[in-house]
Amino acid sequence: MTDPIPMRRAVEFIDLGRQQRRIRDRLDAAVARVLDHGAYIMGPEVGELERKLSAFCGAKHTLSCANGTDALVLALMAKGLKPGEAVIVPSFTFCATAEAVAMLGGVPVFADVLEDTYNMDADSLKAAVLTAREQGLPLAGVITVDIFGQPCDYDAIEPIVRENGLWLVCDAAQAFGAVHRGRPVGTIGDLTTTSFFPAKPLGCYGDGGAVFTDDDETMAVLKSLRVHGQGSDKYDNVRIGMNGRLDTVQAAILIEKLAIFAEELEARAQVADRYDALLPPALARPALLPGCTSAWAQYTLRSGARDALMKRLKENGVPSAIYYAKPLHRQRAYQHYPVAGGALPVTDRLMETVFSLPMHPYLTDEDQRCIADAFGAEVVATQAAAE
Ligand SMILES: Cc1ncc(COP(=O)(O)O)c(C=O)c1O
Repeated sequence: MTDPIPMRRAVEFIDLGRQQRRIRDRLDAAVARVLDHGAYIMGPEVGELERKLSAFCGAKHTLSCANGTDALVLALMAKGLKPGEAVIVPSFTFCATAEAVAMLGGVPVFADVLEDTYNMDADSLKAAVLTAREQGLPLAGVITVDIFGQPCDYDAIEPIVRENGLWLVCDAAQAFGAVHRGRPVGTIGDLTTTSFFPAKPLGCYGDGGAVFTDDDETMAVLKSLRVHGQGSDKYDNVRIGMNGRLDTVQAAILIEKLAIFAEELEARAQVADRYDALLPPALARPALLPGCTSAWAQYTLRSGARDALMKRLKENGVPSAIYYAKPLHRQRAYQHYPVAGGALPVTDRLMETVFSLPMHPYLTDEDQRCIADAFGAEVVATQAAAE
């Protein structure tokens, strides 16, 4: 066994401290402004953030909200999802994607993903449409997930959505800031949702989220839904809604973080490129679709020797994590829902092989050299044998 390699300094999986140190003065001033004006709910920073997010991604409207899960629920409510209606979602995702459907009484139908991008497979989407029809489920729409920061192959997915008369909600909780062949995330599909959970590429210091749409009428409905379905005023209720507002303090923090986000996205892309160049040749790299960029929420590898590799990294002080160890169609809460064509072989395989390396915009070349070295030639040989 090769000796552990001493790390010069601890590498964190997601290091929020380095970013905070960079903009701490501006964050302190932004929070102080909110404390001074005292408009903690829907203060001026909320509207300012929404305008800045729209300008950043090119969406006509942005509705900020309490978290990425509420963003999905709001989007589905705006689309009028009814109990019993089916919505096709990937199984290889965080539970919130399917949870939002089930919470409204809808039926998630799970589709498979592609082995190299981990994003929804268009052929499996077609199979999911057939499965829903065979089971007599009225199909309403599709939620794609731009997993780990990369947009799905929308050129393949959108025609299938259209041909079947469905709506498309893009769950971009991990992908705000990415671009699909000239179209920024936020402008694809009928609605796009995102999350500002602290660990996301654009994160606040608590929970936060947003919904993006180009449609004026949808935006009016979303605004009403966010505040208990309000009509002309606070005490006029015209529909069932929720309390889904983003706190003013979080909006103030996000404004400061958004100001450096474009730079951070570039730094993330450089970190990914450096990993691509530095990692031992036997390891598979994440695949990017031609003409697309990723927000690089995660840098995720696949290996038949995952456990040995992760153990070796840990021994050398390098954190790694598995997203996702158990896909949704195998979770107790979701295992009774339909699965496209009866099986999701790629998702099942990924569950056994994927693992993610430290990823944040402040990883240095030196950090990454240590991470790459930490794999150790011997363990990488084991991995090559396991492929
Ligand atoms: C793909 C995906 N969808 C939805 C969510 C939910 O976002 P939130 O935690 O802000 O509710 C997440 C968060 O991890 C996510 O990764």
